[in-house]
Amino acid sequence: MCGIVGYVGPKKASEVIIKGLKRLEYRGYDSAGIATINGSLSVKKGKGKVAKLESLLSSGVEGGIGIGHTRWATHGEPNDINSHPHLSDDGKIAVVHNGIIENYNTLKKNLSDRGYSFYSETDTEVVAKLIESFLEEKPEDLKRAVRLSLAQINGTYGLAIVHEDFPDQIMVARKGSPLLLGIGEGEMLIASDASAVAEYTDKVVYLDDGELAIIRKDGYEVHSSQDEALTKEVHELAMSLDEIEKGGFPHFMLKEIFEQPKAISDCLRGRINPAKGTITLGGIESVLDQLANARRIIIAACGTSWHSGLVGEYLFESLAELPVEVEYASEFRYRAPLIGEGDVMIVISQSGETADTLAALREAKQKGALVLGVVNVVGSSIARETDAGVYIHAGPEIGVASTKAFTAQVTVLTLMAIKLAQHRGTIEDKKAAELIRELDQIPGKIEHVLKNASGIEHISNLFTYAPNFLYLGRSYGFPVALEGALKLKEISYIHAEGYPAAEMKHGPIALIDDMMPVVVIAATDHTNDKMVSNIEEVKARKGRIIAITVEGNKEVENLAEFVTEVPETIDELTPLLTVIPLQLLSYYIAVNRGCNVDQPRNLAKSVTVE
Ligand code: AGP
Ligand code: GLU
Repeated sequence: MCGIVGYVGPKKASEVIIKGLKRLEYRGYDSAGIATINGSLSVKKGKGKVAKLESLLSSGVEGGIGIGHTRWATHGEPNDINSHPHLSDDGKIAVVHNGIIENYNTLKKNLSDRGYSFYSETDTEVVAKLIESFLEEKPEDLKRAVRLSLAQINGTYGLAIVHEDFPDQIMVARKGSPLLLGIGEGEMLIASDASAVAEYTDKVVYLDDGELAIIRKDGYEVHSSQDEALTKEVHELAMSLDEIEKGGFPHFMLKEIFEQPKAISDCLRGRINPAKGTITLGGIESVLDQLANARRIIIAACGTSWHSGLVGEYLFESLAELPVEVEYASEFRYRAPLIGEGDVMIVISQSGETADTLAALREAKQKGALVLGVVNVVGSSIARETDAGVYIHAGPEIGVASTKAFTAQVTVLTLMAIKLAQHRGTIEDKKAAELIRELDQIPGKIEHVLKNASGIEHISNLFTYAPNFLYLGRSYGFPVALEGALKLKEISYIHAEGYPAAEMKHGPIALIDDMMPVVVIAATDHTNDKMVSNIEEVKARKGRIIAITVEGNKEVENLAEFVTEVPETIDELTPLLTVIPLQLLSYYIAVNRGCNVDQPRNLAKSVTVE
């Protein structure tokens, strides 16, 4: 959670940092702050967005070195005092932090007993005082003070630290929260996400857990937790500025919804050969036998990625005939899971930094399972810690509500399922070829659905002020129902529930009356009759039916009050089409309600705390 940026070099640090924070704001937006050194340390911070911080800086902040932060509060409400940076008692050390210091209460008590003062309710403030306390023993050695402080901390951190008496350097440390170094010409940057440095350099070094780095304008050094000097690999960033800007759209979310045809094409590029009916997935080639012979597959993820995992379960079981369980990563970790050699865990994550997912993967790996990743962000922690994997290549996703990552994840899972089925001999050549040819058509079919955005906007206008929504689906429509409900909840703050359509009669049917919009996802052929009966049940209770169905499904169309059609496709591929109208529905409703679509309240893009 939260964004961290730091700069040292010839430019005005505050300007580079503000720009970087704006790019990272999707990670957290409870408050923002900046510390720069120009002779002495100066700090500006406060509750609210980066734009507000920028206005505080309008009088100009000089200095070519500084650190900045956008917060997603874990400890202490979002207010001015709890904003980062936090300072040492002598006002010379400034610290910004991403993560949670779990033993902060004990540390705080010890430090208070020794006379240090605390002003905020955050866990972070102890770090500044701890460093100060160790520095008092040996004032010339900041690295020692930081290292000894880190040794006392339990929990997770991405930390950036500046000290007035060491005005040419920024110190950073990582354990569990992402941090990278950006290497420029005569300047260096640090950030929790590559989008903040992409404008200045395409050379980055990803820090690993336990590492501490020092950057100066002309270089950097990285040390292990045992203080050995390390040589790190320098990675090349493939991120264009266009990808991280809105490009004429009012919101990143809408841009990303409309980018889906391209995202899926990019995801399929070089991986399918529709003429030959073959699939190439270089990232898992070396482990294909092990995967094909897995005792069972466990998919672990959170949120939207968990929903695509559910689609994955249906695909792997029906095509490759492999047993699959889908787990909330957060639950998996804390319930003594039975997993070991012979099992394969697939972790799905857009950001590649979700703390719960990372923890689940570590648990599975430690118990001997093969761990594969389906990840968007190249070089992210999850991508680096998995044994093998397939990138979804959806490009940067900045809107907090995940859209193109979902469809690209489902695309990759479909490719994996077909590939595995071919390897295991559980799919007929004809069926595999048909699926691959149809996958190739999906970007064009999504395009077609997007052309009808105004139809969905019309429906959204009618239901903008509905207090509740129900989403129902069967088979491949069920994970889509969950995803549609999540989208609506997170950006428009309307209570929404996704349910397997048949489960409705075991409880939620009691909620249905003539005020209740019920979105039905009725696009799979093999469950059509049953779905039609479920829709009848809703209609009999006067529910307002909004149906997402395939072109020409008259049965469903006759029952529903509102209909959005998607082009016909094979059942297994329907989630790639049916989710699009639901993304648009939630988008337009949220806009109508005046909600901040890209930065919904209380949320942040990647959740790097447990
Ligand atoms: C989706 O719209 C959410 N904002 C959220 O549920 C997200 O999918 C979840 O936090 C997982 O993130 P990840 O894919 O980056 O791991
Ligand atoms: N735990 C810290 C706080 O609440 C850091 C949160 C963050 O990552 O933004 O201030």
